[in-house]
Amino acid sequence: ADEPLVLGIETSCDETGVGIVHGTTLLADAVASSVDTHARFGGVVPEIASRAHLEAMVPTIERALKTAGVSPKDLDGIAVTAGPGLAGALLVGVSAAKAYAYALGKPLYGVNHLASHICVDQLEHGRLPEPTMALLVSGGHSSLLLSSDITSDVRPMGATIDDAAGEAFDKIARVLDLGFPGGPVIDRLAKEGDPAAIAFPRGLSTAKDPAYDFSFSGLKTAVARWIEAKRAAGEEVPVRDVAASFQEAVVDVLTRKAVRACKDEGVDHLMIGGGVAANSRLRALAQERCERAGIRLRVPRPGLCTDNGAMVAALGAEMVARNRPASDLELSADSSLPV
Ligand code: KG4
Ligand code: ZN
Repeated sequence: ADEPLVLGIETSCDETGVGIVHGTTLLADAVASSVDTHARFGGVVPEIASRAHLEAMVPTIERALKTAGVSPKDLDGIAVTAGPGLAGALLVGVSAAKAYAYALGKPLYGVNHLASHICVDQLEHGRLPEPTMALLVSGGHSSLLLSSDITSDVRPMGATIDDAAGEAFDKIARVLDLGFPGGPVIDRLAKEGDPAAIAFPRGLSTAKDPAYDFSFSGLKTAVARWIEAKRAAGEEVPVRDVAASFQEAVVDVLTRKAVRACKDEGVDHLMIGGGVAANSRLRALAQERCERAGIRLRVPRPGLCTDNGAMVAALGAEMVARNRPASDLELSADSSLPV
């Protein structure tokens, strides 16, 4: 059978993303980001994000269609992130998707943001095996999910009980005056630092702690206190060592728990997604630990790991391919949509 042609819209945070896929083939991935505007505030400002989505929505859809060389009448469906995410931001995408679906007479598919972060890997590495364990780490989420059917059976195994992994990178970068977002610069500085220089705490990693939940706020406080103490003593802060030691504490826990979940559930594929999946040390340590455990690791390229429309289109195409029911035009955004 011919593969479905689907357009996907993503507006859950600060990127207005529109992607077009043909089955597992990526045809267009247009993204307009308001991250530069938010950088001035050190984080995403919901009101600003919603307004930016509104301004970027139609031009981004048109740009994606043009890049893909696709006529809207040939689409097999329109997919959109229904949640979780910022309520006002999600609403812009859902409203646009409904309007296009109605005007074009195409089926509408409301999809889960986390499931689409997993599904995007198909665009790079071919169909995802099921089951696949997924570690999703970004500025907004840190979750371990078990996907047995990407369209209907994604089970949460664990999640952060406080800060998201990316949020921890951003906060430590702020304490070190490195700017926003903090992940990329900490990643770069850490390459020149010693990851064993400072023994920062690994949250929730004793035997009696929840097996797959994460906690990064204790680590964040410990790093901030350590820096404060140095400054108070009039000593220079070894930024590269702090960056490397902090990063090591984060990726050590993430990879250890992800691999343990795979072993416990008898799953031999792990995918890592979300903005933090761009982290070079996370990729290297995950690769090392997966190899040792006989697990196949799949990590999409960084451009597909961050929020984008292609991931939504990828999951929408999977919904069409598996004959899943379409959403009706009453579809509403749900900021805390469960997987
Ligand atoms: O997925 P994303 O673009 O947006 C959401 O938060 O949903 O992820 C952005 C997050 C930011 O917190 C950023 O600091 C982090 O991903 N990040 C990284 C790296 N690149 C981006 N964290 C660690 N290492 C990186 N190389
Ligand atoms: Zn995301």
